[in-house]
Amino acid sequence: MLDAKTIEIIKSTVPVLEEYGQTITKRFYEMMFENHPELLNIFNHANQKQGRQQQALANAVYAAAANIDNLGNILPVVKQIGEKHRSLGIKPEHYPIVGENLLAAMKDVLGDAATDDIMEAWKKAYGVIADAFITVEKEMYEAAENQPGGWKDFRNFIVVKKVKESDVITSFYLQPEDKQAIASYLPGQYISVKLSIPGETYTHIRQYSLSDAPGKDYYRISVKKETGMNGKPDGKVSTYLHDVVKEGDILPLSAPAGDFTLDESHGLPIVLISGGVGLTPLMSMLNTLVEKGSRREVTFIHAAINGNYHAMKKHVDTVADNNENVRAFFCYEKPTDDDRKNGCFAKEGYVDLDWLKKILPSNEAHFYFCGPVPFMRTVKHALEDWGVPEDRIHFEFFGPAMALEKE
Ligand code: HEM
Repeated sequence: MLDAKTIEIIKSTVPVLEEYGQTITKRFYEMMFENHPELLNIFNHANQKQGRQQQALANAVYAAAANIDNLGNILPVVKQIGEKHRSLGIKPEHYPIVGENLLAAMKDVLGDAATDDIMEAWKKAYGVIADAFITVEKEMYEAAENQPGGWKDFRNFIVVKKVKESDVITSFYLQPEDKQAIASYLPGQYISVKLSIPGETYTHIRQYSLSDAPGKDYYRISVKKETGMNGKPDGKVSTYLHDVVKEGDILPLSAPAGDFTLDESHGLPIVLISGGVGLTPLMSMLNTLVEKGSRREVTFIHAAINGNYHAMKKHVDTVADNNENVRAFFCYEKPTDDDRKNGCFAKEGYVDLDWLKKILPSNEAHFYFCGPVPFMRTVKHALEDWGVPEDRIHFEFFGPAMALEKE
C-alpha cells in the first residue's frame, strides 16, 4: 500500500504528465526500443509509426495513477488490457523494462521539474500498477493453459484451407500441428498470429477475431488485405498472409482471448452491426446463435463498399432465409451497377440513426459492433443518441480503444 504523501504527489502530477503525454511517451518508446530492441518482436510497428499505441499505453498508466488509491475502480480496464497482453505473450519480466524507460523519459522531458520526490513517488506507483497487471495476467495465463485443449504462449497451427471471401478478405482455416484438441472460445474472441516474414528483422504479431462459431476442429480467421492509402504503406502482415502464406504452411497462434463476447444472460434481441472486415467477430456470434438453435431475434447489419468487397454474403443470406428469427440488412457505400441490378443491398451510403430506426423495431436490444474507426464512432454516437444504455452497447476495437473517445 502506498503512503499518503506518495498518493498526493502522484495525484497532483498526473495532470502535468497528461499535458506532456505525447512528448513523454514518444521519448519513452525511443528509449525503450534503443535499450531493448528485442521488444520490437512484440510491439506492432505500424501502430508505433502512427503514434496510436504510444498514446494508449501512457494514457492507461496515467488513468491507473489517477486511481492509485483504489485500483479496484479500474479493474475492468486492467482485465481488458490484460487479455491483449496475455494474447501477445507479455510477461512479468517485461514490466520493469517499461517502468524504467517510462520514468527515464519523464525525467528527460520534465528536467528539474521532476524532483527526486516526484520520481520516487512514480517509481512506487508504477510498481503497484505493474503488480496489478501481473496478477491479473498470471491468472489469465493459467486459465488459457489449463482449459481443455488450451496452451500457454504460441502453438503451431497448419493452414489447412484458404478461402477467398471477397476482393479483399480471405479466410484461413487453421488446425494444430500436434493434432491434439483445441481450446473452445466465446464468440467474439480473437487469437494472435506470430509471423516471421523473410527479410524482416523482427517478428510481427497481429490479433484476428475468430470468424466462425466455436466447437469445430479448426479455428477460422478472415483477414483483409490492407492496401496502403494516403501515404500509408501496404499492411505488411496482411499482404504476407494473402500473397505468400499458402495451404500447408505453419502459423504460431496464441490461445483465444478477449472480452468482446455475447452476453446471453438476457432475453433481449441482439443486433450485430459491422463495417468491412469488422464482420469477423459478429459472424462468429451469428453462427453461434444459429448453431445453438437460439430463438432470440437477431438482426445482422453489414456495411461494405459494394458487393465486390462484401464477404460471406451468401452464407448470411442463407442463414437469414433458413431462420425466421434472423434478419440481415446490407448497406453499400458505392454500389456497382451489378449490385443495383441484383438489388442486394438495403441502403446506399452509410449506416445512420434514421436507417437503424427504420429497420429495427426499437432500441430494446443488445448492440454489438465492430469496424473501422469512423464507422465505429458513427454507430456508437447513433446508439447513444437513440438512448441505448451503455450496458447494452458492446464493441470491439482493434487498435488502442481510447481512439474512439478522442478526436
Ligand atoms: C497494448 C497498457 C505494460 C506491451 C496495451 C494497451 C494498453 C496498454 C492500454 C492497448 C490495449 C488495446 O489495444 O486496447 C499498458 C499498461 C502497462 C503496460 C498500463 C503497465 C502498467 C506493457 C508491457 C509490455 C506491453 C510491460 C511489454 C513490454 C504491449 C503491446 C500492446 C499493448 C505489445 C499491443 C499494442 C501494439 O503492439 O501496438 N498496453 N501496458 N505493455 N501493450 Fe501494454
